[in-house]
Amino acid sequence: NGTWHAAAAVEDLREGEPLGLEIAGFHVALYRIGKQFYATGNICTHADALLSDGTLDGCEIECPLHMGRFDIRSGEALTSPVEIDIPTYPVRVAGDQLEVCLP
Ligand code: FES
Repeated sequence: NGTWHAAAAVEDLREGEPLGLEIAGFHVALYRIGKQFYATGNICTHADALLSDGTLDGCEIECPLHMGRFDIRSGEALTSPVEIDIPTYPVRVAGDQLEVCLP
């Protein structure tokens, strides 16, 4: 289920630099770790900060506002003050583009 949407050029997503996008009404954050790509919701579940403004540390994104952390692979809320998980979305490479599957 879900629909694939063009998200960004592969070359525009740099290691360690999350990219925030709005796609079909969804706030999406894209991440690159080596040759792997991940997508999550971009709105922190604590107080609405944009996670793409935060810091990527390994597979964890740290919210810029109160330093809560989420695992970008599972969306799991890891550290206080965040308690509610963020959504994750499938990502695929299509030629030189990244596509994200949104519900
Ligand atoms: Fe993200 Fe508070 S808004 S931890």
